[in-house]
Amino acid sequence: MKTIFDKSALGNLNLKNRLIRSATWEALADQNGNMQDTLFSTYEKLAKGGVGAIISGFTSVADNDHYFGGMARLANDALIEAHKRLTDSVHKYACPIIAQLALGEYNGAYRNMDVDDMTAEDIDSVKNVFVAAADRAVMAGYDGIQLHAAHGFFLSRFISPAYNRRTDAYGGSPANRATLVLESLREVKRRHPDLHVSMKINCNDFMSGGLTEQESLRICKLCAGNGMDSIEVSGNGTSVSGIRAGKNEAYFQDFALRLAAELSIPVILVGGHRSIENMNRVLNAGNIEFLSLSRPLIREPDLPNRWQSGDTSPATCVSCNMCYRTPGHACVFCAQNR
Ligand SMILES: Cc1cc2nc3c(=O)[nH]c(=O)nc-3n(C[C@H](O)[C@H](O)[C@H](O)COP(=O)(O)O)c2cc1C
Repeated sequence: MKTIFDKSALGNLNLKNRLIRSATWEALADQNGNMQDTLFSTYEKLAKGGVGAIISGFTSVADNDHYFGGMARLANDALIEAHKRLTDSVHKYACPIIAQLALGEYNGAYRNMDVDDMTAEDIDSVKNVFVAAADRAVMAGYDGIQLHAAHGFFLSRFISPAYNRRTDAYGGSPANRATLVLESLREVKRRHPDLHVSMKINCNDFMSGGLTEQESLRICKLCAGNGMDSIEVSGNGTSVSGIRAGKNEAYFQDFALRLAAELSIPVILVGGHRSIENMNRVLNAGNIEFLSLSRPLIREPDLPNRWQSGDTSPATCVSCNMCYRTPGHACVFCAQNR
């Protein structure tokens, strides 16, 4: 029987349990990516709170990406030192930390270019900024990186037939649409063979003409065959509201179970984990090895320790999604805590 408290290996990373903080954009950086002090204390609280590993919030790979406000960045060398401070504060608690590398929008020859309008050189430049950001993540002490290919951001749009209607080698089949992800993955692994490389992907775009489960599965398999170390399963519209313990938890589990049955690398499932009972049930329903949480840890950064200490009542998060609208993306019920 697996339990959420098992010590487990996420590829080459040793985790004290099977719980991972899923990437959560805190909106606590200025427009150049300089991080506020509150951001450091947020991460320290999470690490101290007992989570097995942390995936950082959306960290943009490009200086000119202004998709939304307050994004952290690893887009130039001047930012490395602050990220080193962040990873040091997390490592004090024997907690690995993975940088979620992401691109909101591609600003090339003109602002916010669509996938279809990009030249092969534009696409290559995107690969290069992801690889350069991975280099910086290594210098800053991150234990891994996660390519953010979910939730409609740039890589997610690139692999989606709803946005990528290219007729060259980057479009058409799922394998062609995955070329940019695969080229970035292979180059990062060539430069840093021991760096854990993960990917967050939609199991389904849930939109007309979007990525289907079958296509997502195909892309995940290609990534696993090209050196990817883990895959986190999500979907568009990921922060479903109104989650109730024992009722509608773990809403992407069907696909994650299917994927985990076919891959030999760890599958992480995000979305709607609220009770230990259901989380242990999901772990034992198949080969899913890790569960990741976002909103419950905004409200209770010490949730893993609370559960481990014997208070096993469900997460107190009510999935109201007000955290998306508060300064620092704090919980409205405990905003004073951040
Ligand atoms: C305030 C907030 C910010 C988020 N930022 C990110 C992000 O930067 N990257 C990402 O992949 N997902 C992000 N998410 C989505 C979460 O990682 C997660 O996939 C989703 O909320 C479902 O999990 P949960 O039920 O545990 O919250 C964010 C969610 C919230 C509530």
